[in-house]
Amino acid sequence: MTTVEFRTPEALADAERWTAHNYHPLPVVVAEAEGAWVTDVDGVRYLDFLAGYSALNFGHRHPGLIAAAHAQLDRVTLTSRAFVHDQFATFCRGLAELCGKDMVLPMNTGAEAVETAIKVARKWGYRVKGVADEQAEIIVAADNFHGRTTTIVSFSTDPDARADFGPYTPGFVVVPFGDLEAVRAAITPNTVAVLMEPIQGEAGVLVPPAGFLAGIRELCTDHNVLMIADEIQSGLGRTGKTFAIEHEGVVPDMYVLGKALGGGIVPVSAVAADRAVLGVLKPGEHGSTFGGNPLACAVGAEVVKLLETGEFQERSARLGARLHAGLEALIGQGVVAVRGRGLWAGVDIDPVLMTGRQACERLAQRGVLAKDTHGSTIRLAPPLVVTEEDLDHALAQLAEVLKG
Ligand SMILES: Cc1ncc(COP(=O)(O)O)c(C=O)c1O
Repeated sequence: MTTVEFRTPEALADAERWTAHNYHPLPVVVAEAEGAWVTDVDGVRYLDFLAGYSALNFGHRHPGLIAAAHAQLDRVTLTSRAFVHDQFATFCRGLAELCGKDMVLPMNTGAEAVETAIKVARKWGYRVKGVADEQAEIIVAADNFHGRTTTIVSFSTDPDARADFGPYTPGFVVVPFGDLEAVRAAITPNTVAVLMEPIQGEAGVLVPPAGFLAGIRELCTDHNVLMIADEIQSGLGRTGKTFAIEHEGVVPDMYVLGKALGGGIVPVSAVAADRAVLGVLKPGEHGSTFGGNPLACAVGAEVVKLLETGEFQERSARLGARLHAGLEALIGQGVVAVRGRGLWAGVDIDPVLMTGRQACERLAQRGVLAKDTHGSTIRLAPPLVVTEEDLDHALAQLAEVLKG
């Protein structure tokens, strides 16, 4: 009799032994991926309903993106910003035009782009608005998630993200998400920016009340304050539009982008704004060795091209309606509430039945990968290339999981 050797347990044990425990991954060891599907080291296939927290909006190994990356790998991959390279302006112009802004500043990770936005807003406050030195204030939302740097966790309200990492960066004022009156009350002559996620992803895909984002836009315009939209997770087609903030017809002063901008291949982030804002930066004041590198720009330019067609936004809206209808049908059958837009959903599981983590573990056993957040919520964010058949399959697996 032959015994089958499974590789997953050993790979999990090695990862546990050799890495800091800053994540609590599901026990799946991915070896290959294509489109909306991944295959583990033992050959088991899973539908990826997390899509790298929206970094894989175009699916795993999108052929056009992979071709752009391959072509660039054969030419030049890194110059640093000490020189200009031939992919730089193409990407930056494409992204600026997609955003309807004068210019962009490319970085690598999302947190770096958020840090960039904070620095630009502060400098704009001092040099353009006329705020007194060191007095700039930025209004942010409770339950925000903008990344993991020391400044960003300084204004997190999540104890796991924040505790033990002080001393904290001052200059942030936290208001409840969705409370326009609280934003109004928090604005002072020293306010330089309001920084928010148009839909809070990590908090459980929380969509603010209608009129909240439009109200912030009005307040910011009236008080000469920059409105900064962190679209790192919500943007680039995820909600059925290029930017989630478009659902309220709002144009922010600065977009903060990341995740899907790198096509699931390389980390690419950026801020986009008009010259009056981004123009405040002078040489030596900000940067990153890898920011805007040739490989990143070649992939990013291809991402912009994909978004220019509108195909992915349309797909997300159409299939998102199917996803949400399917999830709504589970309310009362193990699901307590569903939120979101497009192919993005926060699903509150009845806590009497199981935790979000347990739901994700059971979904994984049925071949669907998703991620829990905050106790009993699970997040669904499949790649936008997911098929209707795949969607229905995942919904059927969730229904089975909820039966216990
Ligand atoms: C809204 C938002 N902002 C910022 C970040 C941080 O991005 P990164 O992990 O690339 O630093 C994330 C990551 O999940 C995010 O969802």
